[in-house]
Amino acid sequence: MNPFAISDALSCISVDVHTTELFEGIWPTPEGVTLNTYLVKGKKNALIDLVQDRHKASDQVQTALQTQGLDLKAVDYLILNHLEPDHTGWLKQFREKNPQAEIIATPKGINLVKSFYNINENLRAVKDGETLDLGNGTVLTFFETPNLHWPETMVTWEGASGTLFSCDAFGSFGALGGRLFDDEFSPPELQAFEKNTLRYYANIVASFSPFVEKAIQKLAGLNIACIAPSHGLVWRKNPSAVIQQYQRYASYSKGPAEQEIAVIWGSMYGNTKQGLEAVLEGIESEGLPYSLHRVPDDNISYILAAAFKSAGLVIAAPTYEYALFPPMAYVLDIFRRKHIHRKTALRIGSWGWSGGAQKEYDASIAGLSWTSIEPFEWVGVPSPQDLEILKNRGRALAQSIKT
Ligand SMILES: Cc1cc2nc3c(=O)[nH]c(=O)nc-3n(C[C@H](O)[C@H](O)[C@H](O)COP(=O)(O)O)c2cc1C
Ligand SMILES: [Fe+2]
Ligand SMILES: [Fe+2]
Repeated sequence: MNPFAISDALSCISVDVHTTELFEGIWPTPEGVTLNTYLVKGKKNALIDLVQDRHKASDQVQTALQTQGLDLKAVDYLILNHLEPDHTGWLKQFREKNPQAEIIATPKGINLVKSFYNINENLRAVKDGETLDLGNGTVLTFFETPNLHWPETMVTWEGASGTLFSCDAFGSFGALGGRLFDDEFSPPELQAFEKNTLRYYANIVASFSPFVEKAIQKLAGLNIACIAPSHGLVWRKNPSAVIQQYQRYASYSKGPAEQEIAVIWGSMYGNTKQGLEAVLEGIESEGLPYSLHRVPDDNISYILAAAFKSAGLVIAAPTYEYALFPPMAYVLDIFRRKHIHRKTALRIGSWGWSGGAQKEYDASIAGLSWTSIEPFEWVGVPSPQDLEILKNRGRALAQSIKT
């Protein structure tokens, strides 16, 4: 029995990728990432989503096919839910080995097959709701889910087993180390794994939260027994767990998020840090949890995840050359690009000559629909009076999040 079999007709070929190379050229994956390809066997055979041609991923796919008595030529259909190269990077080489397989994608997806890979033969653009009968009772249905994650994206449904091949949706960072299904992980392991799902969502999907909600609504009528994404765990015991996680994350985009505070801070010589310590005392006095992230030391991928999840933010940074401390300016720019909206935020910082950080901060957050706690700046080292004010500001932030 194939350990990665979902049903008699369906199995997963899961490749763990461990690399210091950044995912999408931005996001670190110190715990790895999986690329899942799926084999569907009827009278005809289909592969759903490919892999990147890196880190021997394509060799692993071919070996896995061989263990099932198949080679690449036995693939009749290649279904591409999404054309991003993490799922299609190997397409050209696949095509050379199997020129006959029909490549199936949405009309926009087929355009990308042509423009990214210069492949123009044996292509089939499918409409929303169109089906493909593989024989032996295995029928696939394609549903367009635009902007999950690119405009051309679709999902594939196999009704006999109730499996939804969701590609990036319901995916996560994190390699699986030889396991695959949610029921192979203990509840504490699943709980620990969720940080990978959250960071993946915050980094990759968060900008498209309204489309996550639309897709979940659109697919609500399906009797889903198994969620099979192209990154991370396959959810066959409790598929609603990952659907609920994604619904919760999508709701963070509309706010308010969790009752906790992401404290993001930077300081050249410790003056802002001293003031921040008083703010933290104020937060602690209200018993609200917070996480600490120093810039530029901490990677933006983790800062994004913490900020996305938290209802409250502290932005603590000094003035630097008449403007905001540059690593913090970068964080706010990423927040703007990644739609970190509807937070309650407190900005503090020290200055020495004539200030300037607050002005840049105000301009940076102008379009983010944040609620601001009255900011506080001071000159040089904070005085005892400054520290008292800062503590009160921290308390006010925590209180406003609790109510
Ligand atoms: C490289 C550098 C540039 C600075 N630029 C400004 C500035 O443009 N305007 C200002 O008011 N203070 C400026 N300062 C002073 C700092 O804002 C001030 O020393 C502040 O207390 C530093 O806080 P920190 O120790 O948390 O970094 C600058 C200091 C440094 C080291
Ligand atoms: Fe993607
Ligand atoms: Fe992906």
